[in-house]
Amino acid sequence: MAIVIPVKDEKLKLFEGVVSGVPHDCLLIVVSNSQRQRVDRFRMEKDALAQYCHFTRRAALIIHQKDEPLAEALGEAGYTELLGDDGLLKSGKSEAMIVAMILAMVARKNYIGFIDADNYFPGSVLEYARVYAAGFSLATSPYTMVRILWRYKPKISAGLYFKKWGRVSEISNRYMNSLISSNTGFETDIVRTSNAGEHAMSLRLAELLPYASGYAIEPQELLSIFEAFGGVLPMAQTVAARHGVEIFQIESRNPHLHEEKGSRHLQEEMLLPALSAIYHSALSDKNIKTSIIKELITQELIEDEKEIPPQPELYKAPRSIDLPKFHEMMADRLEAYSALAVD
Ligand code: GDD
Ligand code: MG
Repeated sequence: MAIVIPVKDEKLKLFEGVVSGVPHDCLLIVVSNSQRQRVDRFRMEKDALAQYCHFTRRAALIIHQKDEPLAEALGEAGYTELLGDDGLLKSGKSEAMIVAMILAMVARKNYIGFIDADNYFPGSVLEYARVYAAGFSLATSPYTMVRILWRYKPKISAGLYFKKWGRVSEISNRYMNSLISSNTGFETDIVRTSNAGEHAMSLRLAELLPYASGYAIEPQELLSIFEAFGGVLPMAQTVAARHGVEIFQIESRNPHLHEEKGSRHLQEEMLLPALSAIYHSALSDKNIKTSIIKELITQELIEDEKEIPPQPELYKAPRSIDLPKFHEMMADRLEAYSALAVD
């Protein structure tokens, strides 16, 4: 299994802690969009990772999101939609995750898991990796996804309060469940992990799914699976449909404590894209669309009922990339990405 750590200007101590929580046998893939001017934070991340890998004798790749050869290789291999006007890979956690999936394909890994870099407890990182592995062991289909349901997400206000649900996930889960309920005719609350940043997939599943830009990526993964393999719309891929796709939502024991980045970030960058993705799903009916619009007005994310929520950009599935071409162009570069390489 490859464990991917997307990072953008996080505290170095947190990044180091997360790295140290990843089990030894997993290939670490760090995709960083941290600043390089003024203070070269990427350099610091690379040094910290190299030192860790040196003393623990383990393998890791670290790459900057704005690396020119990377963008060139992606373009030549047919993935131009990931590139911005400046010809470099676009910013965003989603774009970093897609590149990490492609690198894991090159490294011929079977599984890929994602863990954020701003986690305060290395022990919970270890738990996430073990939960991913537990899910994959339980799976009977090669097309599998494991999503972490946090037991608690503590908040510090008057004292320490062990909150169960985040504000975004509560709302986004509700509409994801309405989508299932309206398509099956049975009311359900089965989805608990609509926005799970900590999640993992078999690469065979990861390769097949289209991915949304920005923070719509996690809810869109579920929507893409429901649309492609849910049995309501025509099956997208017969082999996977025959095996079935398994989704595990597994509750962790450790509380999840990460950096607080402000409520506007949560509303605009997370809730709006999540609900917009559900709104634009081919499985979404008129009632769901109407209730999403009402919710977005209440949350002050759109102004009136005529406003259509912005459709998140959808990137094609990674299996459409010309992998031999990408690999050929990246052969030398991969050595430079090794955490132990000196540049
Ligand atoms: N490479 C890269 N590029 N990493 C990024 C970028 C980027 O442009 N933007 C953010 N990251 C990294 C952060 O450094 C962090 O490690 C991780 O991606 C998640 O970003 P946060 O900004 O910490 O997101 P969050 O805490 O608000 O949301 C997380 O939890 C949500 C569920 O509650 C994310 O994992 C969401 O994707 C998830 O839905
Ligand atoms: Mg965070």
